[in-house]
Amino acid sequence: TTHFKPFNTLFLESQSILEPKGKVITRRLSDMAELYQDQKSAQSLMDENPLVYEVFNVEVPESIEHIQHCITVLYPGKVGEEFFMTKGHYHEILNRAEIYFCFKGEGKLVMQTQDGDYEELDMKPGTISYVPPNWAHRTVNTGEEPFVFFAAYPGDAGHNYGDIEKIGFRKVIVNESGEVKTVDNPRY
Ligand code: F6R
Ligand code: ZN
Repeated sequence: TTHFKPFNTLFLESQSILEPKGKVITRRLSDMAELYQDQKSAQSLMDENPLVYEVFNVEVPESIEHIQHCITVLYPGKVGEEFFMTKGHYHEILNRAEIYFCFKGEGKLVMQTQDGDYEELDMKPGTISYVPPNWAHRTVNTGEEPFVFFAAYPGDAGHNYGDIEKIGFRKVIVNESGEVKTVDNPRY
């Protein structure tokens, strides 16, 4: 028969290497500068163009019977007072859920629905977070070391970045005199 063969993937955390390598997505500030509130700070960081995050994807077919899985390494940093974050997305097939498992660092998982509901969860090593169907999701590194988590989601989910790029999430996560604060997104 021609069943898909089982396989292991190894993530070497100290070196940020996935074996076998799979598809790596690298996002620098220039790939997402317009998503941050403080555009002056974003522009002033542009020469340096820091690496914000990397996604190490295990390659499996993009069909419903498979489970996509990957590791995200979100680096520590800020643009102005706003913490480094992922772009964030709805799934292209909106009702596809996802599970995140954090194993290093700390951060927040911010989520919202198209009706404007908003929720956020804290993540730290050991946290398993459930993103139910229909929720857009973004992670934010609120700590001082890389924030590393594993994700698994249905193979056909896809990514819709457009809606979040246009208006963002209702809230943004910022540093306010050394404290992590959730504040209204003035551009929402
Ligand atoms: C996949 C998923 C994560 C993110 C990754 C990067 O559905 O939610 O693997 O893709 O953390 O974030 P984005 O895709 O928003 O740039
Ligand atoms: Zn997702």
